[in-house]
Amino acid sequence: MKRESIIGVVAGAVFCSAALCAFAFDGNRGIAGTAVQEQQGQATVSRAGGKVLVAYFSVPETDGTDASSGASRVVSNGKLQGNTEYVATVISDATDGELFEIKTVHTYPGSHQALIDAAKKESDEDARPALATHIEDLEEYDVVFVGFPNWWYDMPQPLYTFFDEYDFSGKTVIPFCTHGGSRFSDAIKTIRDIEKGATVLDGYAIVRDRVAESKNSVLKWLEHIGMKK
Ligand SMILES: Cc1cc2nc3c(=O)[nH]c(=O)nc-3n(C[C@H](O)[C@H](O)[C@H](O)COP(=O)(O)O)c2cc1C
Repeated sequence: MKRESIIGVVAGAVFCSAALCAFAFDGNRGIAGTAVQEQQGQATVSRAGGKVLVAYFSVPETDGTDASSGASRVVSNGKLQGNTEYVATVISDATDGELFEIKTVHTYPGSHQALIDAAKKESDEDARPALATHIEDLEEYDVVFVGFPNWWYDMPQPLYTFFDEYDFSGKTVIPFCTHGGSRFSDAIKTIRDIEKGATVLDGYAIVRDRVAESKNSVLKWLEHIGMKK
């Protein structure tokens, strides 16, 4: 009888979790007001003096399941939050940063397919949706975290409106995003192109499936860049 053999090939794929070790650092791009120092290849931000703003855009989906299953929402302390919103609150708590929600005048649909379609239309049109919220006194802040979901391999269009509205020259901009696998796509380069006078760090990207358990990784990253209070 012919002997059957099963050859198990176990590929030792090592995944450096794209979500959780996704921080990288930018060098000193020479700004006034905020010191960015190169230390062992990692940029650290000196937060002496100025205040920290944590701006974010997030659209929690009202259908589907929670973020541990991949939908765009997290339930934290009984409160429904978008994925990026959740990360923004972690950053705000850890840095004493003021939260600022980037909101549009129009409301995005909460259901998944309608939201996908609305965002695709805006992306195709390179739209600049009007914003309903505005930073009152940008001068107060030296460091501005800016968080958003990856939408259609890019920043959501309201982020273009946001970066068009403000000149972050002399400030440190620290992007963070949540995503379904595309990380930032080209958003960091885009932000640097728009905000030429700002120091824009490489930022932090978290895959949506890990958002709910990302707190420790986010805190570790903040510590690395010198932003944890
Ligand atoms: C309209 C739309 C477009 C998306 N496009 C992408 C994409 O191109 N690449 C990706 O990795 N994830 C994509 N996603 C997944 C979101 O980035 C992810 O669910 C994110 O965590 C949502 O964040 P929020 O809950 O803060 O809105 C998309 C989600 C939506 C709703």
